[in-house]
Parts: sequence; C-alpha cells; structure tokens
Amino acid sequence: MNKQYLAEKVVNLKPSGIRKFFDIVATMQDVISLGIGEPDFATPNPILEVGVRSLKSGATHYTSNAGRIGLRQAIAEFLNTHYGVDYHPADEILITVGVSEALYATMTALLNPGEEVVIATPCFVAYQAEVILAGGVPVELPTRVDDKFVLRANDLEAAITPQTKALLIGYPNNPTGAVASREELLEIAKVAEKHDLIVISDELYDQLIYGVSHVCFASLPNMRERTILLGGFSKNYAMTGWRIGFAAAPKELLTGLARVHQYTIMCAPTMAQDAAIEAITNGATEVEIMRNEYDRRRKLIVGGLNELGLPTFEPRGAFYAFPNIGVTGMDDELFAQRLLDEEKVAVVPGSAFGAGGEGFVRCSYATAYEKIEEALRRIKSFMRRHG
Ligand SMILES: Cc1ncc(COP(=O)(O)O)c(C=O)c1O
Repeated sequence: MNKQYLAEKVVNLKPSGIRKFFDIVATMQDVISLGIGEPDFATPNPILEVGVRSLKSGATHYTSNAGRIGLRQAIAEFLNTHYGVDYHPADEILITVGVSEALYATMTALLNPGEEVVIATPCFVAYQAEVILAGGVPVELPTRVDDKFVLRANDLEAAITPQTKALLIGYPNNPTGAVASREELLEIAKVAEKHDLIVISDELYDQLIYGVSHVCFASLPNMRERTILLGGFSKNYAMTGWRIGFAAAPKELLTGLARVHQYTIMCAPTMAQDAAIEAITNGATEVEIMRNEYDRRRKLIVGGLNELGLPTFEPRGAFYAFPNIGVTGMDDELFAQRLLDEEKVAVVPGSAFGAGGEGFVRCSYATAYEKIEEALRRIKSFMRRHG
C-alpha cells in the first residue's frame, strides 16, 4: 500500500515511552515493577458493591449526556466543601470517561488550528498528544527540581506568544509528585489573568497528598471564570478500570466540552457513575486508609533512594518518586534499560514525560511495601556497580 491513509498528525505522534517499555517488561519474569501509574489496591468494597447493584438492578442504559445529576450534585458539593469553589451541577459539571476523555473534550472544544497550549513538563504522557490531535501546538515548559518541579510564573510569561490560548498544569503531579503551594499558584494565576489564558488544571490526584493541602486552582481569586478543572476517581478511589471522571467549568466553556462529549462518547458508563456517587459521598475513610499506606511507602522509597546516592526530591502528592540518576553517568533511558536487564526492576525514564524529565526516572510506589523493599535491595546492588 503506498497511499498514506492515516492522518499525518496521527502518524507523527510519538509512541508513549511508557508503553514501549512495558511491552518489554510483560515478556520478563520476576520483575519488580515500579512503573505502574495506577493504584495496586482494588476498588474499596462499598464502592464496588454499589456498582454491582447498579448493574443488577437494570441500570444498563445510557444516562443523560452530562451524566447522572446525582453525581454532578455530589461533585459540586465535594468541591464546595473541600475547596470553597461553587459549580452549578446542572450546567457546569460534565461526567466524562476519566480525565483522559475530559482532556480530549477540552482540547477539541478550545483549539483552533495552530493555537498554542503551554504545558508544564514533565507531565502525564497524554497532554501533548491531546493538543496535537485537536490541531493545536503543545509548547513544553520544563520545570526544575530546584523549584520543586513547580512552574515558574516568569517562565510562563516568557513562553506566551500571540497564539497562546491556554495553560495546562497538573498538581499533584505525575511523574514528579510535586504539589504547588497557594503562593506559587497565585503567581501563575496573575500571568493567566494578564494574558487572558484559559487554565486547564488536572487535579486527578487531589486527595493523595501528604502533609500539605491541595489548592484547587479554580478557587483562587478570579480564576474560576478561566479555569477548566479536571478531576476524577481513578487514583483517589482506586477506580482506574471504571473509566470515570469529570470536568467543571463556567457554563460558556462547559457547553463546548459537552458538545464534543455528546458526539464522541454519549455518556460515561452508567454503573461507574453510580459507583462514583458512593465513592465521592462516602469514600473518605477508604481514601484515608490508602493514603496512609501510600505515605508509608513514600517514606520508605524516598529515604531508600536518597541513601543509595540517588538524590530524590520529596514528593508531596500522587504516588511517584522521581530520583535524579545523574551520578551513574547514564541517561535515563539507559539507566531504566540496564536496571531492568541487570536487576529486573522496572522504572520509567523521565524523558518519557517531556522536557525537564531527562536525567530522572519515575518510580511508582503504588505497589506493595515488601516489593519496594526488595526493589531497593536490587537497586543497591545496581548502584554498587554503577554509582
Ligand atoms: C495526571 C494524570 N491525568 C490524567 C490521567 C488519566 O486518568 P483517567 O483514568 O482519569 O483517565 C492520568 C493517568 O495516569 C494522570 O496521571
């Protein structure tokens, strides 16, 4: 076939650095994986039960495009109680198939061809691709370990061009575990206001934070009107496979997302919507149990990596540690490859997450404590040879 059937923008998309790596891991035995970006916990039983009951009671049909009003109300209440930000359930909240679909709907709804979205990197691997698929141009803006991987307002200002339409940030951050403080976000907010940017704030890990508070970007002065807040259930409630999340935004913006969603998705899975109502309404204790366990693992892995001579910034959110592997003299891809070959420990090269990730690797601690202990023993033997 010599005809190019696939669209150029699709052909030119880089394959995810994570996938490539895990295809290799899948063929190996006795690997300890610190590569997985999802909770190792099963969905807590009370939530699971509601999902099962929903199916058994015949909730096997579509819901309204925007999703069950009960879920939108529960999300509105949660956002109000925890972050002091008000969204109208009827027309300012859209239930989506995870933050993944919310990102797709957001970019498709916002971008005209050639418009730029500034993306603070390293970041979740789908951000750049979603912008490209929507015809936009991703502008990567690397953050630095010296700034605790939080975007500097000055850097943002310098990256703005007449084509810049939006800024995309995600705190707590995947892959660094960074959490932005209120003061840091206020600086970013000033620039967003001055240059009339839309701010897409991916707050998927908002409840997985350790010893700090999560600041919802939309709750900052004057930010609600220009923020598209993305959130969900995958990480907080260990519900990755249910495929459920949400977007919240002022009506004028949300209408655009809802239009895209209506024609691509119809509605999020019905039983997942029912389970999500239970999660957000009654799931706080379950979240706390998981958060405490993540925190125990976080201390183990961060302390362990630092002791082994791999400087590791203290992550305050999500479930990732992001050590600097520069002392080994390897780049992050080679480090990850060798660690896998020689010690059967899987980590993800930092460069897979965009500019600023080079020289680091992502170690997920969403895996059992004992496995992390064994991974550290293996990394120790690796560092004896390469440190
Ligand atoms: C920062 C971030 N945003 C979005 C997603 C996608 O999550 P969802 O399962 O809600 O589609 C992930 C998944 O790893 C993520 O880490």
